[in-house]
Amino acid sequence: MKTVSNIKTLQSLLKEIRKEHRIAFVPTMGTFHKGHLSLMQKAKKEYDFLLVSLFINPLQFGESEDFKRYPRDIVSDQKLAEAAGVDLFWTPLSEELFRPGFQTTIEVAEISQSWEGRSRPGHFKGVATIVAKLLQIIQPDGLYLGQKDYQQTRVIRQMMEDLHFDTALQVLPTIREEDGLAMSSRNQRLSPTERKAATVLYHALRQAEICVQKGERQARLILLEAETLIKSETQAKIDYLALCDAETLKPIKTLGQRAILLAAIKVGSVRLIDNILFST
Ligand code: PAF
Repeated sequence: MKTVSNIKTLQSLLKEIRKEHRIAFVPTMGTFHKGHLSLMQKAKKEYDFLLVSLFINPLQFGESEDFKRYPRDIVSDQKLAEAAGVDLFWTPLSEELFRPGFQTTIEVAEISQSWEGRSRPGHFKGVATIVAKLLQIIQPDGLYLGQKDYQQTRVIRQMMEDLHFDTALQVLPTIREEDGLAMSSRNQRLSPTERKAATVLYHALRQAEICVQKGERQARLILLEAETLIKSETQAKIDYLALCDAETLKPIKTLGQRAILLAAIKVGSVRLIDNILFST
């Protein structure tokens, strides 16, 4: 595995690589867990060259969110990436991506406004801007993202369509801990009792799924099942819980063909998100 930082060096390497290989790309903010590694392994299986970027993007953090305290462990990340079959590890430099006088941002209007967008103003503008820049620099054949950040995948897909990026987007299933908690770098910040309480989010989604499997189609009743369970956990506070059309992310009243239950809760000071897709 080769590690590069400089954009020109990266691009001249990619120019040669592209002559013989199709390039898969996994963008990350580091602190790899099994979720990241599963994206890398699948990408490597489906394409013959894998590029992973590690950049903690300041644009996607709100004022109250601690960009400076975001976990960083590049040495361990490099080892894990190499073991996962990464060919090229790109650690962009902030001063190169955001040169003095930088003025251009990308805002995906409608799909960014609800749910995470409402709770974290500016977040998706930061995500869309950085991903567009990374794609523009790399021009990969395939892009891999995880379903855990479902709204992010919808924002990025829309941005890629609107800006005519010629890259195939693959969204892979959420990887979970043994007790169901979705893997996330934020889980590290939970105390042992909060960590236990956090599983309520997964159990609530499962409860909703069981309700659907039994034949329930009314959004209100499906949501009530999940909400009641979360409220039974005193350490958990609901931010949002919504049953939406899986494409538009607009709330639905009756379960349609492809729906998604989106959930965000706070356990202590840690915000956790998760979701479950329903195809009927
Ligand atoms: O999901 C993430 O880790 C980030 O939002 C991404 C896609 C790497 C953009 O910074």
